[in-house]
Amino acid sequence: MRWLIVGHGKIASNFIDAAQGIGHQVVAIAGRDHERASIFAAKNGIDKSGEDLVSLSEGLDAAYVATPHSEHCNAALTLLENGVPVLCEKPLAVNQKQVEKMISAAEKSNTFLMEAMWTRHLPIYEEVISIIKKGHIGEPKLVEASLGFNSPYEPESRLWNPELAGGSLLDVGIYPLTLADLVYETSPEKVFSVAELSPDGVDANLSMLIQYPNSSMAKLSSAINLSLPNGALILGESGSIEIPYFWCAEKAFLKQASKNEEINKTHQINGFEYQIREVERCLSEGLTQSPKVSWKCSHSMAQLMDQIRTQIGVNYPADSQEQDGI
Ligand SMILES: NC(=O)c1ccc[n+]([C@@H]2O[C@H](COP(=O)([O-])OP(=O)(O)OC[C@H]3O[C@@H](n4cnc5c(N)ncnc54)[C@H](OP(=O)(O)O)[C@@H]3O)[C@@H](O)[C@H]2O)c1
Repeated sequence: MRWLIVGHGKIASNFIDAAQGIGHQVVAIAGRDHERASIFAAKNGIDKSGEDLVSLSEGLDAAYVATPHSEHCNAALTLLENGVPVLCEKPLAVNQKQVEKMISAAEKSNTFLMEAMWTRHLPIYEEVISIIKKGHIGEPKLVEASLGFNSPYEPESRLWNPELAGGSLLDVGIYPLTLADLVYETSPEKVFSVAELSPDGVDANLSMLIQYPNSSMAKLSSAINLSLPNGALILGESGSIEIPYFWCAEKAFLKQASKNEEINKTHQINGFEYQIREVERCLSEGLTQSPKVSWKCSHSMAQLMDQIRTQIGVNYPADSQEQDGI
């Protein structure tokens, strides 16, 4: 496949390594500053760069949107309205209303759209979910997961700036929420969240206690001002599965009363290759969404994160713009 990448920050390089590693080509780079985009393109041996998404995407198979959260929706809308298939970084957008706009644009133009929640495509999760479904740990009752790092407070940066929809929930809290969704495959019944907010009002440190049907629970946390354990534990009635670095996992440890087992699924490249292959598969089969990260799945996640943000009092400029219909 031939790709356009929108945004040329840290994660764009991971995408390039994975795409090229499986024989795809990154042909064009879009950035808001032509010079910075062209420097990045030259460094990576990419021919085309510029600001205009429509002309850059001409003749290409798909675009990968890797800008700050606040910019996902506009870039994706421009691409979808021009019939360009989109793989858009997580979270798909800042809030539920933006996600609805994106889904509606994809529907209208009959164009593929998928949130780049790469964790859902990792081979280890096929194994973990199969173990749970076979009943090897009994009914799962508790998921504990955290993802957090201590990043210096830089008010203008993507992580801390409310204008860019910063904060821990949208950046990393979405991963423990995704893990709980993978295990329980259903919407929460009750959600309780508390957070420490930054001076600018984004969540720096967040804890979520969630109840699912059958009284199953999740205790999840995320932070951008604190290093957390960064692991996950799925506890069932007769066993457990531990997943270190669960969002990018290559290993899991199954513990049952009678035996312990280590499961290994090493990434072929860096783990991004599985979601890229899924885009290729969906496009070759004429699908506009992937069953692995369906529109409904991204919509439910946006709805849940809106609910959590309401509980902890985090509002972004993008929320009021949506309310005002801008
Ligand atoms: N899947 C993963 O493991 C993973 C990991 C990290 C991040 N992400 C996601 O990837 C996306 C990008 O993250 P990143 O860490 O690569 O970000 P980053 O390093 O800050 O890069 C952001 C890129 O977006 C551009 N940009 C466009 N509009 C912008 C604006 N209004 N303000 C600031 N920058 C703007 C920047 O351009 P300039 O060069 O002109 O500033 C830069 O090229 C986010 O959605 C994030 O959640 C995913």
